[in-house]
Amino acid sequence: MRATVHPGGFRGGEATVPGDKSIAHRWLILAGIAKGRSELSGLPAALDVRSTARCMGALLGGADGAALEGWASDPAPAPDGDRSTTNGPRPRGTTVAVETQGRGALQAPGRPLDCGNSGTTMRLLAGVLAAAPFEAVLEGDESLSRRPMQRVAEPLRSMGAEVSTTDGHAPMRVRGGRLRGIEHETPVPTAQVKSAVILAGLEAEGETIVREGAQTRDHTERALEHLGAPIRIARGSVSVRAFRPPAFSGSVPGDVSSAAFLVAAAALTGHALTVRNLGVNPTRTGFLGVLERMGVRTRLEIQREELGEPVGSLTVEPCEGLRGTTVEPDELPLVVDEVPVLALLAAHAAGDTWFAGAAELRLKESDRLGGVAEAISRLGGTAGVEGNDLVIGGGGLGGGVADARGDHRMAMAIAVSALAARAPVTVEGIEAAEVTFPGFVPSLVALGARVEG
Ligand code: S3P
Repeated sequence: MRATVHPGGFRGGEATVPGDKSIAHRWLILAGIAKGRSELSGLPAALDVRSTARCMGALLGGADGAALEGWASDPAPAPDGDRSTTNGPRPRGTTVAVETQGRGALQAPGRPLDCGNSGTTMRLLAGVLAAAPFEAVLEGDESLSRRPMQRVAEPLRSMGAEVSTTDGHAPMRVRGGRLRGIEHETPVPTAQVKSAVILAGLEAEGETIVREGAQTRDHTERALEHLGAPIRIARGSVSVRAFRPPAFSGSVPGDVSSAAFLVAAAALTGHALTVRNLGVNPTRTGFLGVLERMGVRTRLEIQREELGEPVGSLTVEPCEGLRGTTVEPDELPLVVDEVPVLALLAAHAAGDTWFAGAAELRLKESDRLGGVAEAISRLGGTAGVEGNDLVIGGGGLGGGVADARGDHRMAMAIAVSALAARAPVTVEGIEAAEVTFPGFVPSLVALGARVEG
């Protein structure tokens, strides 16, 4: 599907965005292994989160996720339900009740668990299945089947699970076993592997310790700490012991990584914007520091907590011009999902921008290093990959056609870049936005953008 975004039009204002996918995955999984009835609201209709809900539903015995009450009654993304600006319909999200007797109630699924496009679903579920007394197969779409699974299989094996991959990739077969705690240092900083090992550690004998060279998102740790788990969180490490979570309730806050696209739109067009009801966990807001160096002033206001997650609003001040910056390798894990949009923004800045040591970006939903460089070049800008660095020359974009390569964040970054281009930009594959930000195009339109197609 194509969409053509015209320059200008965007006027800012107020917005909300669909629920946070990283938080939603984790709360759904924790609710599925908790004892009792949990109630989660604000779940996004994002395809990735639906993949986790579907898999948990299958593990809880429902043929199509029936054990997750609520979701089953809303099987397709609502056509207008998750539009995400206050100018359009309010985002309602989905409310789901999960009723189970704890991890022991998980059942062998009758067929492979389809994780769709979602790496978080596959890796976190591998951690849960590592302790389950049956065999399950995790599979995914073409993009997910190209992504590395050895990094999660290896620590789960050393805990005592049988895990086989397909040449290091999905499909992945997991047969749970009696687990023992391990000390694992993640070779590259990754919240997905850290979380998988922590989830397995909840059923292991002894202590499980994960060390990471750079901080990654900490939603799993926060939820567990809030639920009373014996978890110790220190700089660069987290340790956990066996724990059966109690049932809980929570309302998933808006996804700050989705808000980043609207924030970028405001920055590019020099308008003010406030996004409300947003998850503002500091392990997710690293891109605001990059934006500040680029000349974009933002303000965060924390209003409440949900299951250990800070929730508040984010305001972007009108911006008078962007300048290039350097993102160092140790900053990267905290902006990992925002690189495409920051890079497309950098193409409109004065001066060069470097994302140094960004090899991990090649292993996302698409090769984001190659994809970003190609998109910027197609749109008349200057960008290239030097070794593992992504280098963007500023100066603005002309317009034209660029391919999202089936990657949701690429699709949205390209679309937003059009707002300051000299001519319209056509995004090939705009539908990928549904993976994390259902209603992305209506949101842009509600804020003034002119989009065709
Ligand atoms: C995620 C972690 C990150 C991120 C992904 C979501 C998570 O991946 O890119 O979109 O929810 O844990 P890695 O942990 O592989 O870096």
